[in-house]
Amino acid sequence: MSAAGVVKAITPPNIRARKGSTPLVCLTAYTTPVARLVDGHCDIVLVGDSVGMVLHGLPSTLSVTLDMMIMHAKAVRRGMERALLVVDMPFGSYEESLEQAFRNSARLMAETGCAAVKLEGGATIAETIRFLTARGIPVMAHVGLTPQAVNVFGGYRVQGRGEDAERIWRDALAVSEAGAFSVVLEKVPEPLARRITEKIPIPTIGIGASAACDGQILVVDDMLGLFGDFRPKFVKRYVELGEAASAAIEAYACDVKERRFPAAEHVFGDEPKAIKGREAT
Ligand code: KIV
Repeated sequence: MSAAGVVKAITPPNIRARKGSTPLVCLTAYTTPVARLVDGHCDIVLVGDSVGMVLHGLPSTLSVTLDMMIMHAKAVRRGMERALLVVDMPFGSYEESLEQAFRNSARLMAETGCAAVKLEGGATIAETIRFLTARGIPVMAHVGLTPQAVNVFGGYRVQGRGEDAERIWRDALAVSEAGAFSVVLEKVPEPLARRITEKIPIPTIGIGASAACDGQILVVDDMLGLFGDFRPKFVKRYVELGEAASAAIEAYACDVKERRFPAAEHVFGDEPKAIKGREAT
């Protein structure tokens, strides 16, 4: 909070400076109400392309478009004051050329007010990260399991076990050297996450990558129990909102069928009546 009482938003350099100190708290959000819930508790709010699977029922993130990301990012921006807003670049929006990556990232920032973008990929995307950061676009990188490459991996398996650890290590080093201000490590074994976190100068944000990381991120719908029966090992469910919502909807259906809802207090009469705490209705 500034002297004038204005909340100062967290910036990419603030995140970068948190390396090795208090763990960074990060969650996804795709809507204004959820953004309002998470903003005060998080350092980073990510509009992830997971929105395609979580809210749109798509089978993977591959068909998420830039327009979808812009629409959700605008909604999230309206609910935020404090956390750093980062938005995922969707599959196909940055891989073709440096110019394409810049054009689409700049559009995302200009239209949504986000302060940074996230790109998936390691060494192969390092040149793009260097190009964007040199032109005013802060980049959060994402290595390990990169869901946009699900067809190359043949599934959503843990990455970097055994000899494969070297590949992920080189990816993390490459994005760090290219100028990313932080890097998501997804689904990698704890010893590798620890090694990367100890050796690179930017914060690592883990998802399925252990508490050795400099911060943690989860898909908010997963930790609230809102995304069906999806229960991967790395997610802790803090509440079962899906079950609570299902019970509430069942109770409503029963009430409607039994004519218990609407009850007298939900019904308008001929005369306006003042109800405590509300205007006359
Ligand atoms: O799309 C997403 O939500 C993500 C996070 C899970 C890191 O990339």
